[in-house]
Amino acid sequence: MKALVLAGGTGSRLRPITHTAAKQLVPVANKPVLFYGIESIVEAGITDIGVIVGDTAAEIRAALGDGTRFGARVTYLHQERPLGLAHAVSVARDWLGEDDFVMYLGDNFIVGGITGFVESFRKRRPTAGLLLTTVDNPGAFGVAELGPDGEVARLEEKPSAPRSNLALVGVYFFTSAVHTAVAGLNLSARGELEITEAIQRLIDEGRTVRATTITGYWKDTGNVHDMLEVNRSVLEMLEQAVEGEADEASHIIGRVRIERGARVERSRIVGPAIIGAGTVVRDSRVGPFTSIDEDCTIDRSEVESSIILQGASIVGAGRIEDSLIGRSVRITGSDEAPHGHRLVLGDHSQIRIAA
Ligand code: TTP
Repeated sequence: MKALVLAGGTGSRLRPITHTAAKQLVPVANKPVLFYGIESIVEAGITDIGVIVGDTAAEIRAALGDGTRFGARVTYLHQERPLGLAHAVSVARDWLGEDDFVMYLGDNFIVGGITGFVESFRKRRPTAGLLLTTVDNPGAFGVAELGPDGEVARLEEKPSAPRSNLALVGVYFFTSAVHTAVAGLNLSARGELEITEAIQRLIDEGRTVRATTITGYWKDTGNVHDMLEVNRSVLEMLEQAVEGEADEASHIIGRVRIERGARVERSRIVGPAIIGAGTVVRDSRVGPFTSIDEDCTIDRSEVESSIILQGASIVGAGRIEDSLIGRSVRITGSDEAPHGHRLVLGDHSQIRIAA
């Protein structure tokens, strides 16, 4: 069995971060979200991994390499334009050959991995296998309707009148029968080749499409809110480790990881929180639910429930919460201009300021 990991796409919902970086590499608890997926694929015993890449190919390649560090063999498959999940399958057609495969959306996060699902697909070997989860807003997802025997009877992409609250999780299992279904697709109204349509074709042909409803935590990290929520839930599982330095005037409370080479001075860190290597936290309060990446500076500021990417500096900035701050961003407070904000923001940036 092979794995097809989708790490292309547009990432419009995570702008401006995705103007300059791949969304699959945004760190959750200081590890790219994509790595969690690759690790769970390898853990399930699948080591032949095809990775779909688009405009951010160079960055994804630099992060994954040839896969050796994960115990896998990675093959890169270039998708000229993000024309949909089924289009990605067609790009991988030759590489996949006649093998069964798991398709994993590179920005999805599933607690507990996929080993059990891989085993049950291998054992029962339906034409396709889907994972479902109950959601409050099914209209935002691919939605499945189950037949009386528990098999999938119908699929709809982002329906205006959802027939169930069962949303498709971004992990799919396929036999090679999917390729014929994909080959027969036309672009949908939103200009994509839809995997849900390909699966619906399999159902219409009378083939078996099975679904398993997962009970564990799953999130698509496509937008900032969900990204912060995944960060929160991963940090919940963090184990305490202080390998960097914290001076005597600092208070480290709860499960806090301070990585080697990080320094905490006269500050209060409330777990769960992680402070990356080379980062300095001075006269500040950090946490809970906060991931600060490598080589950042947090000085005379408060940061809570946030993800701060590599090299960012937050100095005299007051309190920052529920925020995703990009690489090498500089936020500084100023006593000189108390009545005005001075901003240099990239396209599609979002800020909320105390008015
Ligand atoms: P999506 O999050 O559905 O799409 P997107 O990346 O274009 O994001 P947005 O809606 O914010 O613009 O994609 C799910 C995953 O699949 C994600 O990791 C990107 C990847 N993908 C591809 O590799 N190729 C594609 O053609 C598409 C649509 C997505």
